[in-house]
Amino acid sequence: MHKIAVLPCDGVGPEVVREGLKVLGTAAAKYGVKYETVTYDVGGDRYLKTDEILPDSVMAELAGMDAIYLGAVGHPDVKPGILEHGLLLRLRFEFDLYVNLRPVKLYPGVDTPLKDKGPEDIDFVVVRENTEDLYCGVGGWLKKGTPDEVATQTAVYTRKGTERIIRWAFELARKRNRAKKLHMVDKANVLTYGHDLWTRVFAEVGREYPDIQQEHAFVDACCMWFVKNPEWFDVIVTTNMFGDIITDLGAMIQGGMGVAASGNINPEGVSMFEPIHGSAPKYAGQNVICPVAAIAATGMMMEHLGEQPVADAIERAIVQALGSGKLGDLSTKSGVSTSEAGDLVASLV
Ligand code: IPM
Ligand code: MN
Repeated sequence: MHKIAVLPCDGVGPEVVREGLKVLGTAAAKYGVKYETVTYDVGGDRYLKTDEILPDSVMAELAGMDAIYLGAVGHPDVKPGILEHGLLLRLRFEFDLYVNLRPVKLYPGVDTPLKDKGPEDIDFVVVRENTEDLYCGVGGWLKKGTPDEVATQTAVYTRKGTERIIRWAFELARKRNRAKKLHMVDKANVLTYGHDLWTRVFAEVGREYPDIQQEHAFVDACCMWFVKNPEWFDVIVTTNMFGDIITDLGAMIQGGMGVAASGNINPEGVSMFEPIHGSAPKYAGQNVICPVAAIAATGMMMEHLGEQPVADAIERAIVQALGSGKLGDLSTKSGVSTSEAGDLVASLV
């Protein structure tokens, strides 16, 4: 029996999570996989009412779960940064979810803005380091509010953190068994301390993986190639900030935020799965957001929990739903509601 914590959180989070759980329920029942969910009322609304973001008692309960399923974080009445740090980043940091796994896959039937590119060209995975870099919150102000103000925001890279993510990405390239190629994406030509560490560790760990083709791209060039030659990529490993940025671009070339899912993984502990889109408050409660990303996140969660047949069933149902053309253009104007889209995918499981 898997214990899954559900954190629908803000904006459209609850609506897409509902559809994810609908499809998961159908797929798990079909394969006799048992799980129980515990839903936690955390996020912007609760913070505005009680001043609490993520009580320590909730953190303690989450630590005992097998997985966490999260909707979206961000509330229009809460200053940017408070919920991001207090909720999403706290979970990533305290549970040491050091792998942020973000597949970029164009499914047949889904439109990409890239001219002359199809599903055979866009199928790669970004492994984003998830616990270091500019996200550490190291920095401060000097003479704040004066004309002489100084602000620093320090990127932190550790040997251990760098090595474990690079090794995990090499293992994935091997397991995927596709092009057997790993690109490291960095900015070593400018970030000469931190990304020199990444360059050295990549070369060193790479010696243990002679079967994996090892490539390197500067992050700016990587953005260009995502658009021009996405077929070059198989697995990418990159730092936290660059991974954040390039995966929004990745989501666009795979058909939009409505389809992009992710896993925040601690290979030795509890892991968390979420769509990569945000809370989109202006669409909250309107039943217009495409839930495919949130549904795909449940598939990633099942794969992580070792329930491959359930994960495969969810993936097949998504492929069929997208291929049927019945989900329209996956935008908020598709004419297909969130719940209808969930019903369709569930019916195809
Ligand atoms: C993401 C999001 C988060 C991030 C925000 C909400 C803190 O953009 O998961 O990509 O920057 O990591
Ligand atoms: Mn992001």
